[in-house]
Amino acid sequence: MTPFESSRQMFPRGFTIIGTGRLGSSLALRLHNKGYLIRSLYNRSLASCERIAGSTGTEIFGTYPATPAELGDVVFLCLPDDQIAGFAEKTGLLKDGPAWVHTSGAAPAEVLLPLSPGGTGIASMHPVQTFTARNRETAFNQCFVTLQGDPELCGNLKKVVEAIGARPIIVDRHQKTAIHLAAVFVCNYMAPLFHASQELLTDNGIEVRSRDLFGPMVRQTVEGLLSHPPAEVLTGPIVRGDAGTIDQHLDILENSPKWDPLYRQLGKVTLRLARTLEERDSSSDSELYRRFLPKNQDVPDE
Ligand SMILES: NC(=O)c1ccc[n+]([C@@H]2O[C@H](COP(=O)([O-])OP(=O)(O)OC[C@H]3O[C@@H](n4cnc5c(N)ncnc54)[C@H](OP(=O)(O)O)[C@@H]3O)[C@@H](O)[C@H]2O)c1
Repeated sequence: MTPFESSRQMFPRGFTIIGTGRLGSSLALRLHNKGYLIRSLYNRSLASCERIAGSTGTEIFGTYPATPAELGDVVFLCLPDDQIAGFAEKTGLLKDGPAWVHTSGAAPAEVLLPLSPGGTGIASMHPVQTFTARNRETAFNQCFVTLQGDPELCGNLKKVVEAIGARPIIVDRHQKTAIHLAAVFVCNYMAPLFHASQELLTDNGIEVRSRDLFGPMVRQTVEGLLSHPPAEVLTGPIVRGDAGTIDQHLDILENSPKWDPLYRQLGKVTLRLARTLEERDSSSDSELYRRFLPKNQDVPDE
């Protein structure tokens, strides 16, 4: 039996989605396109909900479920993170009701405990992907989806995730937060690095946008990082052991001091990574390391 066939049997009344914003509407369309029943849809403002209901052939829709009978076997709460707990508290305990699943990456399944104090039938299902109105058709393709919460429910949702073309990964509460943290490094922290790069150009009278100037190089780097281990993609003065270039950078940072600590901190981390490469000349590494210490700090004793 395929994951779709067995999960269709597990959830004969289909799914309810509450919150038809970016993720909720993508999820509804994807589930519908893969053959699942979307029993009902709800959203604070009716317009988007009505539109998605039209595309998924869903007859029950509105701003809030009128009765529990309107709900499918699983209710996906695709609400802003800070509204999930309040919604669960407002809705309260539903005996013998549907399973409840939220889609936040930050919150654990346990924020849904007001709906099921024992933790049965609650889970979080977080697609590790960015959803916009433009990628609705493709966003679930091969993307990882973490599942955390009631083990039996997670096992059943795993089949649904597989059937919609994504990759399920069952995690505990701690691992879920760790995944969120790890994502911050590769996704969120790219933005301040672009910001630093732009300010350094501007501080030095270069009237070109960083994203234009470095776009081709960044694309190449990201391509490399998506297909090779990070150390193998390293280029630049640190991996070459070029202490003179680092000195020039530090001189320029005298005029942009706010970026100096970050440059040194990332320099140390990059050096550590470069040192994992076997066939690299490491003779100037202690010289490099000395340059990355905070200003006016001596090299600590070995
Ligand atoms: N978008 C992503 O890339 C992404 C990826 C992974 C996980 N997630 C998670 O998915 C969840 C939703 O994110 P999103 O980006 O889809 O947010 P969003 O685009 O802002 O959509 C949230 C939807 O919830 C509706 N809503 C808000 N309060 C409501 C309430 N009390 N009752 C009914 N509907 C209500 C909003 O209605 P209105 O139209 O009236 O504002 C809106 O349509 C979040 O937990 C987020 O962390 C999002």
